[in-house]
Formats: sequence, C-alpha cells, structure tokens
Amino acid sequence: MERKIRQYEGEGIVVEFEAVRCIHAEECIHSLPEVFDAKARPWIQPGDTSAAAIADVVRRCPTGALHYRHTAGGAAEEPPGENTLRVMPDGPLYLAGRLRLHLPDGDVREETRMALCRCGDSNNKPFCDNTHLEKNFSDPGIAVEHLMGPKGDSADGALTVKLAPNGPILLAGPLRVVTADDGSTEGGKGAFCRCGSSGSKPYCDGSHAVAGFLAD
Ligand code: SF4
Ligand code: FES
Repeated sequence: MERKIRQYEGEGIVVEFEAVRCIHAEECIHSLPEVFDAKARPWIQPGDTSAAAIADVVRRCPTGALHYRHTAGGAAEEPPGENTLRVMPDGPLYLAGRLRLHLPDGDVREETRMALCRCGDSNNKPFCDNTHLEKNFSDPGIAVEHLMGPKGDSADGALTVKLAPNGPILLAGPLRVVTADDGSTEGGKGAFCRCGSSGSKPYCDGSHAVAGFLAD
C-alpha cells in the first residue's frame, strides 16, 4: 500500500502526518493549538515548541495519523504497556499497543495506534475514514456478551491484527477490550465485525456472509 506522509520540522523533532488516517478527532488541535491549527497553512507548525510537548500530543492521536521522529536525541515512541481495543459509539475501533498489522498486500506494519473501520464503508479499509458519519452508522459500542478466547500471550507482547478476506478483523495476542460503557474484558483471541452487520457487535457473528461484505 503506497503511503503519502507529510513531514513538518521543528526544534529537535519531525512531525509526520498521514492525512488519510486523520478522522478529525481533534485531540491535537485541542491539546496544542499553537502547533496544530486546522485553519493555518501549513496546519502543523512546530515552531519553537519543545519536542517533548509535541511528542506528548502526537502520542495521543488515536488514529496513528500523527507520528514523530526526534532529530536531536530522544527516545522513539514506545507502545503503551497494555494492548487495548476501545469500541467507539457509532464509530471505529481504536487500537493501541504493540500492534502488528498484516495488510492484504503482504505488508506487515508495526503500529502503536490505529482506528479500524467497523461500519463496512470506509474507502481506506482497514482504516476508518469517517464515512460512518455520512452513512449514519449506529451502534452504541456496548457488548451484550464478550466473545473472546482465553487471555493470550505472544513472544514480545504484540497483538497480531489480520483481516479475513470479506470477513472480520482477527486479533491474537494479549488484549483488553473496552466498551463504550467502560466495561472491559481481557482475552487472547477475537474476531471483530468490520462489515457493520453483526448482531453481536463489536464481535463477528458471521453476518458478513449474508450481507455479501466484500473487502480484501
Ligand atoms: S489527533 Fe490525529 S486523528 Fe485527531 S485531528 Fe489530530 S491528527 Fe487527526
Ligand atoms: S467506522 Fe469509520 S469509516 Fe467505517
């Protein structure tokens, strides 16, 4: 998958921005408006804001649209200690942690944050692109029952993220699922709906086959 990543240089830091993954959650704009300003051009202006302050805000971007590189020393972003999947009401699945994403073209990416489409309509699958707003995707993000395999482990603590062709998101590795009512459960394996049709959201119940969901 070819990626278009813009770079913005500041004092000891370069901010990288992948526009197709930004869904305007606005964490950055609210946290550091002197650097992230949607009305300014360019919209990211690190100026003389400290690298530490910028890195701190970048790490809060839930979609992974923002990343950073220190250019004058400083540690690279470390994944949080726990892998989490947060179910957003009427919106995507936010994943955070040590994430190993296997893309349909064979590419394997190490990620720390991403927003995965669960409405079925994103034009940038597997990532959310906010199409759920246009399509009025509606789901409170609360699980009636949790359908997870037993608490998992992996050699380096990574969560493997795979995409079943025309089917669900398959997660394997240590994981905590947090629903919109702040309910949470731990597990090691789960199939999560990405077609929008499951009757057991956020989990897959096989409805993608009936719905004729098509995705690599
Ligand atoms: S925090 Fe990330 S997803 Fe939200 S507006 Fe900023 S770049 Fe976009
Ligand atoms: S959940 Fe956002 S585009 Fe599908």
